[in-house]
Amino acid sequence: MPKLGVNIDHIATVRQARRTVEPDPVWAAALAELGGADGITVHLREDRRHIQDRDVRLLKETVQVKLNLEMSIADEIVDFALEIRPEQCTLVPETREELTTEGGLDLISNRDRVRSCVDRLLDAGIEVSLFIDPDKHQIEAADALNVHGVELHTGCYAEAKDIETISLELERLLVAGDETLARDLLLHMGHGLTYRNVEPISEIPGVSELNIGHSIISRSMFIGIEQAVREMKALVSHAPGLSLE
Ligand code: PXP
Repeated sequence: MPKLGVNIDHIATVRQARRTVEPDPVWAAALAELGGADGITVHLREDRRHIQDRDVRLLKETVQVKLNLEMSIADEIVDFALEIRPEQCTLVPETREELTTEGGLDLISNRDRVRSCVDRLLDAGIEVSLFIDPDKHQIEAADALNVHGVELHTGCYAEAKDIETISLELERLLVAGDETLARDLLLHMGHGLTYRNVEPISEIPGVSELNIGHSIISRSMFIGIEQAVREMKALVSHAPGLSLE
C-alpha cells in the first residue's frame, strides 16, 4: 500500500498573495499529519514564489513524518538542502514561467549536472528520488545515478480525458513501474492525482509513495485539511467505504 505524501505548497501560495504570515504551511503540515499523512512535501522554488526558506527550516524541526523537499538542481538550492538535511530530496526540473512542474527531469541531457547534485546529496546521507517521465531510458539513467528511487510523472494519465487514453497512460505507468522495481529502485508517483483518479494508481504493484497537493488542498478549503487528508488516505490505502467513482 503506498504512503501518502501531502504537498502543502498551495498554503504558502495563499500566504504569499499578501506577503503576510497566514496561512502558515507549518500549521498545515501539523494538520495533515493529524489526518494521516505519511509525509509532507514542499517545493522550495528558486524564485521562492510560495515556500520560503523559513518554512523548510521550521518544517524540519516540527514534521514528525517524512519531510520530502522537492527541488531543482541549482547549486544554491542544493547548498540549502545540505544545510537543512530533509529525509528525502526529490529532484525536479524547474523553469520560472511554468505554473507547476511541467515534465519530468531529463536525465539524459542533464546527466552531468544531475550527477553532481545527486552525489552531494547522497554523500550527506539524504535519500534521493528523481522526478521523471515514465520512460525506460529515463529509468535506466536514474539507475546509473545510484539514487534510492524515482517518482514517475502521472500528469499525462491525470490529464487524459477518454477511456482509451486513460488506459494507455495507465499501462505506460505500469510498464515503467515494473522497469523501476526490476532495477531495485523505490517507486513513487505523483502529479495531477485527485480523489477521482488516484485509485488505479494506488493499485500499481510496488508503488510505495504518492505525492499529492492540489486536489487535497482544494478540498481542504471546504472541509479542512485534516479531513481532506483522511479521505485521500482512505482511497490510497484502499479502505472500504469511500469511493468517488
Ligand atoms: N510530485 C512532484 C514532483 C511535483 O512537482 C508536484 C507538484 O508540485 C506534485 C507531485 C504534486 O502535484 P499536484 O499538486 O498536481 O498533486
